[in-house]
Amino acid sequence: MASLPTALGPLGRSQNPRVFLDLAGPAVRGLLLKKGKQGTSASMPARHHAHFDWSYERNRPELRKLYEAAQRSQWDPQTTLDWSIEVDPHDDARELMPEGALPLMEIPSYRSLPRRRQQQQRAALTAWLLSQFLHGEQGALFAACQVTEAVQWMDGKLYGSTQVVDEGRHVEVFHRYLHEKLGRVYEINDNLYTIIDALMTDGRWDLKFLGMQIMIEGLALGAFGTMRQQTSEPLLKELLKYVITDEARHVTFGVVALRDVYAALPENERRDREDWAYEISVLLRNRFLAHEFYEEFYGHCMSRREWNAIVLRSDFMKRFRSTMFRRLIPNLKRIHLLTDRIRPHYDALGLLVYEHDKPSNELQAVDLLECDPAEAEARALHI
Ligand SMILES: [Fe+2]
Ligand SMILES: [Fe+2]
Repeated sequence: MASLPTALGPLGRSQNPRVFLDLAGPAVRGLLLKKGKQGTSASMPARHHAHFDWSYERNRPELRKLYEAAQRSQWDPQTTLDWSIEVDPHDDARELMPEGALPLMEIPSYRSLPRRRQQQQRAALTAWLLSQFLHGEQGALFAACQVTEAVQWMDGKLYGSTQVVDEGRHVEVFHRYLHEKLGRVYEINDNLYTIIDALMTDGRWDLKFLGMQIMIEGLALGAFGTMRQQTSEPLLKELLKYVITDEARHVTFGVVALRDVYAALPENERRDREDWAYEISVLLRNRFLAHEFYEEFYGHCMSRREWNAIVLRSDFMKRFRSTMFRRLIPNLKRIHLLTDRIRPHYDALGLLVYEHDKPSNELQAVDLLECDPAEAEARALHI
């Protein structure tokens, strides 16, 4: 087991003691005690206030529009996707993830493996990535339930009800794909567990929005887009397209909901949110080091430090990070959490280059799917 300072290593960079205390409990449970890897279930105490609105007043037109768009865009995971497609990790014409899309070629012992074993490892690493998507989706499902209870506007609650259905569908399709097509599901990554623990157990409703709707969902949107661009496997490509179009609404919900709330927050409280978001960014940045995959295939022949160095300097990581944070940073700016005070911290991580991109509520379907305009039009999305 890691020592306490090692386990909490990524935390505390904002030097905000209140934020450190908020995140220390989740970090001890996730990074030190590895609660996400203690069997087939976990329970977390959820503390928040459910807000009832007996007036039923509909006074948030942007959220109302989003609710109506969500109603029109529902899809059935059983019939929309063609589950009869066979997925074969050894089929060169339908590569799950191409060599250049993963960091494995930079490992000498991988390069010397027979082709078939290389393909198996690529499929395993793809399964690892998809497993983290799946676990994130389960977190998103529960967070969407909490947010629906806690949000104070009726239009937000009605919209939230559609997101709960969306997230349930995402859990179903990712699990089915992993179980039926790839034959395995990896355990949850410790950093991801820590973030989910932090937002599930925090009583402040806006932090649930910030953590799930802006940060995890924003990064997921980028990660899904990267994987969709790279894969030649038709079922996965199609599955990701449908999930991305749902996720785009979810991130927009977060931006629209928090934009005005954070503008009106007292400065000391807004600053805590800004530092919290920065700490979570650091954790998310470290989320894609694939330690569960490393332990299975390379734990016996190289140190974790060597593995981290290879993954961190790989083109794979640079591309992944770029796509993920290109979505997140403009959204943080739009909700007033990227002020001059915090900018140097993001700059030091090399993430400030994305600040001038469009926030999610200004993106069109074509931007989010990163596909040709005809395809976006064919989906007839009204995000
Ligand atoms: Fe989702
Ligand atoms: Fe979502």
